[in-house]
Amino acid sequence: MKVIVIGATGTIGAAVASALAGKQHEVVRASRNGAAKVDIEDQATIRALFAAAGPADAVVSCAGSAVFKPFAQLTDADYAVGLNSKLMGQVALARIAANQLKDGGSITLTTGILAMRPMPGSAAISLVNAGLEGFVRAAALELPRRLRINAVSPPWVKETMVKLRMDTAPGLAAADVAKAYVAAVEGTMQGEIIEAAKFRG
Ligand SMILES: NC(=O)c1ccc[n+]([C@@H]2O[C@H](COP(=O)([O-])OP(=O)(O)OC[C@H]3O[C@@H](n4cnc5c(N)ncnc54)[C@H](OP(=O)(O)O)[C@@H]3O)[C@@H](O)[C@H]2O)c1
Repeated sequence: MKVIVIGATGTIGAAVASALAGKQHEVVRASRNGAAKVDIEDQATIRALFAAAGPADAVVSCAGSAVFKPFAQLTDADYAVGLNSKLMGQVALARIAANQLKDGGSITLTTGILAMRPMPGSAAISLVNAGLEGFVRAAALELPRRLRINAVSPPWVKETMVKLRMDTAPGLAAADVAKAYVAAVEGTMQGEIIEAAKFRG
């Protein structure tokens, strides 16, 4: 399959691109500063990416920012970061992909554990992740041409925890998180929120 991976230079995206390539898929690696250029906040660049990539079977998004900050300190601008980037950026991607992917293709977005298991500081991120999960479940009901849409929900990723100097024990290695994305691309799931933690080991 030809799979476009957005966020392919990131902690999760690089592992996903590598896992897909390891399974003989043709991977188009994209991000704002990557080999193929796209900014999910700019719909013209998403359309340009699909045009440049040519007919694709799947698109995977491992991109999108949101602000982690104590509730009392979150500003309108902080909320806007997550709404414009991780939420509406991925929604825009899904809407454009629904017109651009081959029949039977798949869209895989990224949510995160903080939707269902919030922690102090996660209000803006939990909002965005929960919104994405509702969007995926609903959009799946109406996608044309046998297209599929799912979202992977990663737990804390070990490599990220190292960077943040957190205890890595509860984390999942990016290579294991990537298995959930591969399953979404190669499988038959539709409208599912796929917990990457189930792919441990
Ligand atoms: N790491 C974790 O522990 C964890 C846990 C749960 C959920 N998540 C979610 O997983 C996603 C990826 O996390 P990560 O840790 O892999 O992030 P990361 O290491 O910061 O990588 C982000 C990737 O996305 C690209 N990107 C960022 N904004 C973009 C935009 N507007 N348009 C296109 N590409 C963009 C970046 O490249 P450029 O800078 O070149 O654009 C980079 O390739 C995030 O949505 C995060 O919330 C992460």
